[in-house]
Amino acid sequence: MSTVLQLSHFIDNAWVPAASGEQFEVYDPSTEQVIALAARGTAPDVDKAVEAARRAFPAWRDAKPRDRAALLFALANALRERAADFAHWEALNSGKPLARARREILGTARYFEFYAGAADKFYGDSIPLGGDYVDFTLREPLGVTAHIVPWNFPLNMIGRSVAPALAMGNTAVVKPAEQTPITALKLAELALELGFPAGVYNVVTGYGEEAGAPLSRHADIDGITFTGSVEVGRLIMKAAAEHIHSVVLELGGKSPIIVFEDADPAHAAAETAKAIYSNSGQVCSAGSRLLVHERLKDDVLEALVARSQTLRVGPALEDPDLGPLISREQFERVQGYVETGQQEGARVILGGTRPPERARGLFFSPTILDNVRPEMRVAQEEIFGPVLSVITFQDESEALKIANGVHYGLVAGVITNDLGRALRMARGLHAGQVFINEYFAGGEETPFGGYKQSGFGREKGWEALYNYTQVKNIAIRIR
Ligand code: NAI
Ligand code: MG
Repeated sequence: MSTVLQLSHFIDNAWVPAASGEQFEVYDPSTEQVIALAARGTAPDVDKAVEAARRAFPAWRDAKPRDRAALLFALANALRERAADFAHWEALNSGKPLARARREILGTARYFEFYAGAADKFYGDSIPLGGDYVDFTLREPLGVTAHIVPWNFPLNMIGRSVAPALAMGNTAVVKPAEQTPITALKLAELALELGFPAGVYNVVTGYGEEAGAPLSRHADIDGITFTGSVEVGRLIMKAAAEHIHSVVLELGGKSPIIVFEDADPAHAAAETAKAIYSNSGQVCSAGSRLLVHERLKDDVLEALVARSQTLRVGPALEDPDLGPLISREQFERVQGYVETGQQEGARVILGGTRPPERARGLFFSPTILDNVRPEMRVAQEEIFGPVLSVITFQDESEALKIANGVHYGLVAGVITNDLGRALRMARGLHAGQVFINEYFAGGEETPFGGYKQSGFGREKGWEALYNYTQVKNIAIRIR
């Protein structure tokens, strides 16, 4: 048991045990073994972290933007230097394949770099009011920002929201998912080493209801960024209403990948496999509905099944194509959806449960459900596993109607060589991002977020800076 990590909160540049004195277990989903005991945060811990962030705010806000940027650049560089170590912990704790974990750590470094570059370039305006006035705007930080993060991209999502928040002069309190607290705390180690001022970056670990809820309800935060389920997103919005805090919500999806009859079936199959199997389907923007023209369906499915059968499912550190699902709860949820689909009349043409060579554990095979109709639950609800629902269409307008016929609207993929059709679809789709001919195209630079119940506010790119600033207009009468 000596290898079990002991984790504390990180508050005011200090390692702090839970006020309650309690801990909770953190697992390696590849083995279901306990790998860490973490501080079980509750309201008093959250209070302490918010107080530290509040105390740190004025000096951080008033620092020269280039000095804030220098620290963020240093953090980006340090993350790159230690990518192997961070990737090991991320893979171990989240079950994601090692090479993918490494890419996500490098992506996190890229967020810190991108937003470090923005720190001294996000200007206000000068507004012409005629000769008697000078008018300009200031972009001021909000203050203390709260970040409630899920387990599917543990460090990467911290980079996505904390980097722009800090760059703009806010301070941060992070509540990582209870499943995956390790890399949030490793980032704290780096920040401490690099000389970040006390209270700028704080981490409180714990369960959603015990640590996340008191953070979201806290009277002295100024904004909250949440990524996770729609159910909890609603609670966050209600909590924010109490004190009129600004909210950014990123709540998942049921995104379509739409394949037209002129597509190359091999290309369509490759893009679909990437869309649904990446991170074992535990991706908010997963392409979980294949909408395929009825004439191309057999060819695409043949290529997709062949490709899916070559994928290796296994422990994260062996760097497979698909790692395990995060938890037993998620495994049962995904398995339950496959059964629901069958009851609704869908046909399992591949997978459907654990791979035969893995009798135990949280591993789930690449799974394809054929004969899905748009109104079925497996075509409407987020499954969050490597389970693809296949639906056919006859023409463009039917494709668009099915694509938009869900409560979500996060992303959408379109595979066609017909430019006019691609652009008509892009205009018509209810989604915050549209990928044409390459699923997941884009990067840290491109704005990301949802239409409809997928949430609001945009993360990534320049756009995210608007979440973490407020505009003050100053009008001067010359006399
Ligand atoms: P969740 O929404 O319960 O958890 C996400 C984060 O919110 C975690 O840090 C959790 O501790 C926190 N949280 C939970 N309850 C809270 C509360 N009452 N107040 C404040 N914070 C709270 O998601 P969960 O249970 O892990 O997964 C359930 C489903 O949600 C998944 O199957 C998937 O469909 C969806 N999901 C979507 C994600 C996305 O990327 N958009 C990420 C994770 C889950
Ligand atoms: Mg939950």
